[in-house]
Amino acid sequence: MSNYTGRRDFMKTSALGALSLGVAGSGLAAGSSLAAESSITTGSNLEYRFEAKPLKESTLTMDGISRKTMEEHFKLYQGYVNKSNEILGLLKTADPGKGNQIYSDIRVLKHELTFAIGGVKNHEIYFDHLGGKGGRPEGQLLADIEENFGSFDAWAADLKGTGIAARGWVWLAYDHDTGTLFNYLGDAQNTFPVWNATAILALDTYEHAYFIDYAVNRGAYIDAFMKNIDWAAVEKRYDAIPKKS
Ligand SMILES: [Fe+2]
Repeated sequence: MSNYTGRRDFMKTSALGALSLGVAGSGLAAGSSLAAESSITTGSNLEYRFEAKPLKESTLTMDGISRKTMEEHFKLYQGYVNKSNEILGLLKTADPGKGNQIYSDIRVLKHELTFAIGGVKNHEIYFDHLGGKGGRPEGQLLADIEENFGSFDAWAADLKGTGIAARGWVWLAYDHDTGTLFNYLGDAQNTFPVWNATAILALDTYEHAYFIDYAVNRGAYIDAFMKNIDWAAVEKRYDAIPKKS
């Protein structure tokens, strides 16, 4: 994820005066830059914050997923960016000496932080590999899909079936321990990823991703999603992963 800026980059952005904490609906393809008023300490030595990446123009002119859907979807993503930064800011003053498993500031903030950051990361994968021509991947990714699922069509059928069954997300991910690809199901952006696996494709199955275009027909939306995948973007993610030898 390249949009997590360190303190130095943040200071540069802030100096440009790009200040916004609201959920803004403008600046989609022109380069939306969001910045908080101050740098953030997370409670560890790490200091970072999130910035919204603009949508690619090609994702606003797709066949089957409308511009309206994408523009509204982008607003939700901006909300996750803003809330991630807001929670990180609140953690700066949360007292770790008052931790409590029933209720405590640190519990609530760290719980909801996973939902907020999940909303950032999952949407960045999703937006990044939309706006393509569909079809099939090539190279190592196609070979490994065929090896793990039997065929590309079997993988696609499994993705669609998992997408119908999910309440939030489906991820095609590489498990570094087993060296295999699998379509994981999530009921929200912070459930149910597994450790030591890397998502290379994300299918958003929340209603906001398709209701404007397809009402309750999620299957038709998943078909449209498949027609608009930019496989080169997925291949780029997959090729960057060190594989189990
Ligand atoms: Fe979404």
